[in-house]
Amino acid sequence: MRTMAIVAFACVVTAIGALANESHTHRERTWVAPAAVDSMQNPLKNRPETGAGGQKLFRQRCSICHADDGTGAKPGPNLMLRRVQQQSDGAFFWKISSGNTRTGMPGFSFLPRLQRWQLVKHLRSLAEPTQPRMLSPAKTKR
Ligand code: HEC
Repeated sequence: MRTMAIVAFACVVTAIGALANESHTHRERTWVAPAAVDSMQNPLKNRPETGAGGQKLFRQRCSICHADDGTGAKPGPNLMLRRVQQQSDGAFFWKISSGNTRTGMPGFSFLPRLQRWQLVKHLRSLAEPTQPRMLSPAKTKR
């Protein structure tokens, strides 16, 4: 009888665990930055000379989980997807700064602000078509 009770208890615990996991996955898919950050402008937007630094930082800090080209490597998702790139620069900045420790994205608020903006800029440049940037100056609106 006692064994039965223990088995039943174990089942309940497992079921609760599974449910918790379910909502965890859901949250992972719906990590949304606060709308207020959408109006933030990247101060490095018109500073192409900061691009190389952004690439270096990305390789040092991010490639291990997102791959050098940003297309993702476990556990980091593909950052080149349209639904990711559709977010504002401010949302990227906010996500990079805060992280989401529940899902394995570390926060990088310890990096100087301008380095985080360099990373945002680098993520945009990775997502651009491989044409030289000079050919499409009107593409990025301020
Ligand atoms: C230890 C692994 C890891 C490292 C290192 C890491 N990330 Fe992530 N990153 C993740 C995971 C996991 C997620 C998914 C988080 C979520 O959706 O809850 C994520 C999500 C993101 C997102 C949001 C994607 C979306 O769906 O909106 C951005 C932007 C991002 N990472 C950029 C970076 C940058 C830039 C760096 C380097 C400074 C970095 N990450 C370093 C694991 C990592």
